[in-house]
Order: sequence, then C-alpha cells, then structure tokens
Amino acid sequence: MKGVIFDLVEEFIIEISDEETFEEIFSDCNFITEEPFVGPGTYPDEDLMELLNKAITKLDIPLPDALRSFGKWSFPNLVKKIPPSFVDFEHPKTFLMTVENIVHVEVRKLYIDANPPRFDFEDNHPDHLVINYESSRRLYDLMDGLIEGVGEYFNSPIKYSREIAERDGGEICKYHLTFATGA
Ligand code: HEM
Repeated sequence: MKGVIFDLVEEFIIEISDEETFEEIFSDCNFITEEPFVGPGTYPDEDLMELLNKAITKLDIPLPDALRSFGKWSFPNLVKKIPPSFVDFEHPKTFLMTVENIVHVEVRKLYIDANPPRFDFEDNHPDHLVINYESSRRLYDLMDGLIEGVGEYFNSPIKYSREIAERDGGEICKYHLTFATGA
C-alpha cells in the first residue's frame, strides 16, 4: 500500500489518541520495511496490518470498527490530495460513479505502483447504486467507512448493505446503496 495511506493511518491514530501513544504503538511494530515510510513509497500491506493490529490492541478497538472509522475519517483527507473539480458534484452517487474511471485513475498517475481496488456499477434506479468491489485485500470494512464518509461529505446520508458474491472463481463484495434523494 502507498506511503500516503500509512501517513493517513498515523494521522488518524494521533487524532484518536495522542502523539506519545502513536510513538509507543509504532516502536512496538515489527515491520518488514527497514527504512522510514514516506508518502510516495510503496510498502507491504503486511506492514500496514502490523501497524493497525498494534494500534487496535493498544487502543482496545475491534479491527472492523477501526477500519470503518478510519475509512470515514479518511475520505475528506483523501479529497485534499486531488483537484477540487474531482469532487464538484451535487450528489454522492454521481461522484461515486467516477471513482473507478477518474479518481483512482488519477491516483495511479500521482502515485507510482498504486494498486487501488476495481469497481464496477449497477445503476438501475435514481435512488440506488450497486458498487461491485473487487480487491484481493478484501478491505470490506474500510469500504463501509469510505461510503459513510462520502455521504457525510456530500451532506446526503447513504444507507448500505453488503453481500459477498463470486465472480470468475474469485470473491467480490456487492455494496447496495440507497440515497435519500435520487441523483
Ligand atoms: C477522494 C478521493 C480518493 C483518493 C485520493 C483515493 C486514493 C486512494 C489511494 C492512494 C489508495 C491506495 C492504493 C495503494 O496503495 O495501492 C486507495 C485505496 C483504496 N480506495 Fe481510494 N481514493 C479515493 C476515494 C475512494 C472512495 C470514494 C472509495 C470507496 C467508495 C475508495 C476505496 C478505496 C479502497 C477500499 C482502497 C483500499 C485498497 C483495496 O481495497 O485494495 N477510494 N485509494
């Protein structure tokens, strides 16, 4: 995962605890990576999980809750890293449908080696959207939080449920979203 995500995890841990606690968590970690993490670098997902696992143990938060809260908190912080025009939409649904072909495409240009998830969409009703998420990382709880963060950002709460499905012998997660008003 990109260093920029490690930086956000660090900021998040400091925000929900304090710098001293973060230093304790960080020095407790056994990372594969020996050099310091920097934004443009790419580091093993195992190192991110090591940091998250040490943090949840120290802060006594279940992993799914930590991932969901981190996702929700991350969204406005991720937005700061892309041009404002990328989020210049009235409705969260219109924005969400650009994440695969615009936002994460830009992410791949900005951050060499970035490997964001794959999304495709089923758009059969103005108030609904199905996002099919495909990633070997299976960060389903993080997705929950990001969806909540998008709803909050656009001031339009999103109800959602998720369902594991099979595709080409692999696993995907279908997010069934319902918006307060149609796009
Ligand atoms: C607002 C702008 C966004 C930016 C700048 C952004 C950027 C990124 C970056 C840099 C990564 C790390 C990729 C890597 O290290 O290989 C990532 C991963 C991810 N993004 Fe986005 N993202 C944005 C919006 C979203 C939204 C709205 C969603 C979901 C609805 C989303 C879902 C994810 C997930 C779940 C991952 C984790 C990687 C995985 O599951 O394989 N992102 N994103």
